Amino acid sequence: FVPPSAGGGGAGQPAKDKNGNDVKSKEWLKTHLAGDRTLSQGLKGDATYIIVKDDGTIENYGLNAVCTHLGCVVPWNKAENKFKCPCHGSQYNNEGKVIRGPAPLSLALAHANINEADVVVFSPWTETDFRTGLEPWWK
Ligand code: FES
Repeated sequence: FVPPSAGGGGAGQPAKDKNGNDVKSKEWLKTHLAGDRTLSQGLKGDATYIIVKDDGTIENYGLNAVCTHLGCVVPWNKAENKFKCPCHGSQYNNEGKVIRGPAPLSLALAHANINEADVVVFSPWTETDFRTGLEPWWK
């Protein structure tokens, strides 16, 4: 897996917090600690998780929270370290890879980069899905 260069390719869109404001990484990291997965508004308005890595920085990808079964928003279950869909029981691991159906596919990825203004910016993920080694199904 080769991470994309910052700002390379495709139009970005700032992540929005629940109040509709741009997510600033330093501010976000004050209240979102290592291992945190919290929803923001991402590409096309889709609920998208911002992930905080174990080292306390923001992961360079976000996870689209829309279940690949029938579209429920999938909550993060911290105690079990996975995402569990309340609608029909699908499960995804901490990287959003599907581990239990009926969901047929893993959660969609988006690139997450931090721009000069410290804003978290999502952009379309068009490269290989590093979790499966396959072409992205959401492209
Ligand atoms: Fe998530 Fe059916 S919508 S399991």
